[in-house]
Amino acid sequence: MRYLLASVFLLLSNFWLYDASSLVAASRTPPGFVTTQGTSFELDGKPFAFVGANSYWLPLLTSKEDVRATFREMQAAGIRVLRTWGFNAINGSELAGALETDLTYYQVWNSSEWVLNDGPQGLERLDFVIQAAAEFDIKVIVAFTNNWRVPGAELYINWIAGAGVTHDVFFSDPRIIASYQRYVKTIVNRYKNSPTIFAWELMNEARCLGDLPSGPNCVPGTELLTKWYKQQSDFVRRLDPHHLITTGGEGHFFWRNATGEFATDYNFNGQAGEDFDADLTLDNIDFATYHLYPQVWYSNLDFPGSNFSLEQWGLDWITLHAESGARAGKPVILEEFGMQGIENKTSIYPSWVNHAIETKTAIMPWQFGVLGLKEHGGNHLFKYEDRLINGASPNDGLAYYKNQTQLWNIFTHAASLLSSHSK
Ligand SMILES: *[C@@H]1O[C@H](CO)[C@@H](O)[C@H](O)[C@H]1NC(C)=O
Ligand SMILES: *[C@@H]1O[C@H](CO)[C@@H](O)[C@H](O)[C@H]1NC(C)=O
Ligand SMILES: *[C@@H]1O[C@H](CO)[C@@H](O)[C@H](O)[C@H]1NC(C)=O
Ligand SMILES: *[C@@H]1O[C@H](CO)[C@@H](O)[C@H](O)[C@H]1NC(C)=O
Ligand SMILES: *[C@@H]1O[C@H](CO)[C@@H](O)[C@H](O)[C@H]1NC(C)=O
Ligand SMILES: *[C@@H]1O[C@H](CO)[C@@H](O)[C@H](O)[C@H]1NC(C)=O
Repeated sequence: MRYLLASVFLLLSNFWLYDASSLVAASRTPPGFVTTQGTSFELDGKPFAFVGANSYWLPLLTSKEDVRATFREMQAAGIRVLRTWGFNAINGSELAGALETDLTYYQVWNSSEWVLNDGPQGLERLDFVIQAAAEFDIKVIVAFTNNWRVPGAELYINWIAGAGVTHDVFFSDPRIIASYQRYVKTIVNRYKNSPTIFAWELMNEARCLGDLPSGPNCVPGTELLTKWYKQQSDFVRRLDPHHLITTGGEGHFFWRNATGEFATDYNFNGQAGEDFDADLTLDNIDFATYHLYPQVWYSNLDFPGSNFSLEQWGLDWITLHAESGARAGKPVILEEFGMQGIENKTSIYPSWVNHAIETKTAIMPWQFGVLGLKEHGGNHLFKYEDRLINGASPNDGLAYYKNQTQLWNIFTHAASLLSSHSK
C-alpha cells in the first residue's frame, strides 16, 4: 500500500509518461532500502531475516571510537539491525548541566517551542551513529519520542498543555501534534535518502497513560491511539515515500470474549490504548512491533510454586502476534524482550528465540551490551542511572555481554541461522 500514495503524486505530475502497472511495481524503492513482502522483510529483493540490537545509549557516547567499537561487536555477533532513540530532549533548566557533562541533546524546552540542537553535541552525534552503522552494514530503526519519563511525551505535555492534564492529550491536542510533527519532519528530512534507515518508529511504547494518568478520551473503544498512529504514519509517508514505518507499540490486543465483554487482562483488553490488530491494518504501518516482559507484567502470578509459566506465556504471546501478522499480511518484530537474572535468561530465551524463528518473527533482545568502552576512562554518568561502569555499557539487569558466553551464543547462533535464511 505504501507505494500507492507516491504513485498518485507521480500520476498527477507525469500521468502521460507512465502506465499504472509500472508505477505500482515495488521496483521504485531505491536500492538498499528494506521492503516487505507479505509477512517477511526483504532487502534488494531477497529475504531479510535478522537478529537486531537495542541500544538507546549509542548516541549518548561521546567517543567516535567507542561508537565504532560497539558496531564492530554487533557486526561480529551477526547483528543486522539496530534500534535506537532519535530523541534526546532536555528541559532548559537542565542545559547548564548538559553542557558541563557533554550530554547529548537534540531539543531544549524552555517555552512551548522547543529549540533544535543540530550541532556537535546534538544531531551530529546521531549522524555519526547512522554513518558508523553503514560502515558496519547495519540498518537502524529510529524512534521519534518516548511514552515514558523525560525526555519524551511528557515534556511536550508540560510545556504546551501545562499542568492538570492527562497523558493522552499527547495524542489529541493539535498544538502538541504540530510540535511533534515539527520534530519528526526534522529527523525524517535529515535521513530520508539514507538506505541505512531500516524504519521510522512513531513512539516507544505509546500508551494512554505515562507518568501522568490517562483520561476518558483514551479508553477501550475510543481508538485514540489507532487514530494517532494513522495520522502520524500518513504524515511520515508524505515526507518519505520509501522507508518503512512502524508503531513502536508493546503489542496489546483489544479483544472481547465470547460474551462480548472485555478480557480482564491488561495485555488483551485495550486498556493501554493499543489495538494491535487494527493498528497493523493501517495503510502506512508497514510492520508491527511488540514487546515481551512477563516477569514484570505478571509479577502477581509469578511466585515460587505458582503454575504460571513465564516461558509458556512468552511462547503464546509470540504465537498470537505472528497470527495477527499473518491475518494482516505484514511482518511483526519481537522488538524488545527481557528477563532479570542470568539463569532465567539462559533457560528461557532459547525457547522464545526458537519459536520466534519458527514463526518468522525477527528478534531484538533488550538490550545489547558491550565491554571495553574507553571514554572518560570507561566510567561516565550520562543522565539518571545511565552510566558506563569500568567500560561496560549501561545495564538495567537486562543487558547481555560477550563475556556471558552461554547467553551471548543464543543470539549469535540465531543470527547465523537467520542469515542462512536470508540468502
Ligand atoms: C521542566 O521544567 C519545568 C519548568 O522548570 C518544570 O515545571 C517541569 O517539571 C520540568 N519537567 C521535567 C520533566 O523535568
Ligand atoms: C531557558 O530559560 C532560562 C531561565 O529563564 C535561561 O536562563 C536559559 O538561558 C534559557 N535557555 C534557553 C536555551 O533558552
Ligand atoms: C467474559 O469476560 C467477563 C469479564 O472478564 C467474564 O465475567 C465472563 O465470564 C467472560 N465470558 C466468557 C465466555 O469467557
Ligand atoms: C495449579 O494448577 C492446578 C491444576 O490445574 C490447580 O488445581 C491449582 O489450583 C493451580 N495452582 C495455582 C497456585 O494456581
Ligand atoms: C528469575 O525469575 C524468577 C521468576 O520471575 C524471579 O523470582 C527471580 O528473582 C529471577 N532471578 C533473578 C536473579 O532475577
Ligand atoms: C562480564 O563483565 C561485566 C562488566 O565488566 C562484569 O560485571 C561481569 O561480572 C562479567 N561476567 C562474567 C561472567 O565474567
